[in-house]
Amino acid sequence: MPEIFHRKLERSAIGLVIAIIAAASVGGIVEIAPLFTIDETVEEAPDMRMYTPLELAGRNIYVREGCYACHSQMIRTLRDEVERYGPYSLAVESKYDRPMLWGSKRTGPDLARVGGKYSDFWHVAHLTNPRDVVPESNMPAYRWLARTSLKMEDLPLHLAAQKALGVPYTDEMVENAARDAYGQATPDTDFAAGVATRYGDETQVSAFDGVKTDVTEMDALVAYLQILGRLTGAAYENTAAPEGKPNPEG
Ligand code: HEC
Repeated sequence: MPEIFHRKLERSAIGLVIAIIAAASVGGIVEIAPLFTIDETVEEAPDMRMYTPLELAGRNIYVREGCYACHSQMIRTLRDEVERYGPYSLAVESKYDRPMLWGSKRTGPDLARVGGKYSDFWHVAHLTNPRDVVPESNMPAYRWLARTSLKMEDLPLHLAAQKALGVPYTDEMVENAARDAYGQATPDTDFAAGVATRYGDETQVSAFDGVKTDVTEMDALVAYLQILGRLTGAAYENTAAPEGKPNPEG
């Protein structure tokens, strides 16, 4: 009988159009319906902070250089992933990610929890020439990042753009973006205290590229890599995480 029904349906132009719309809308509903319960599905994370201007600049360099083409930033709820990378990613962890960088292509490992896994020095060595630290690596070298000064005058614009997209940066944060970026990359200055006041005491202040004088693109990218997975400890509370949240001090 179904064959006869289908034959009839195919001969009726309007009937077929309606049937196609009905079938196609199932896919739409599956995507749209969960949005009505978004308040319940996105976890609470009162400790969540936003990217500092330096980290945001690093994130933009990550996008510019196409790191996402080889690295995902989303740990799936599968046992082998959790054992390799740590607790699976929660929706709330990408609350301030514009654009999101979850990705699916993994030529290299997932980076969602790489923050704190290595020292700043390791990252600088690795980005300068991956083969120096991982001999079999096929990751490209990005050695110009350490020679290229970060464009400080663009930073307020980066924050303002995020703010326009709904990230709750205050006017004070936007105004102080360049000072805060400088402070985060130069420990023991008055500017360093400012970034901690605005973004929290756990903000990592460090001469990320090993040089205190100039703020380079390497500083920004390493600051960003070191915060991945550490904007909130929610994943360590809301999942059956095998380990505790890494300590930002060490
Ligand atoms: C052509 C693919 C490719 C691109 C593009 C790429 N990577 Fe990689 N990356 C890899 C591979 C493969 C590895 C594993 C070997 C290694 O550690 O070098 C890796 C490893 C890493 C690691 C160490 C991860 C860990 O847990 O050990 C970091 C951090 C990293 N990449 C950051 C970056 C950043 C930042 C960029 C962009 C500036 C980038 N990668 C671009 C392929 C790539």
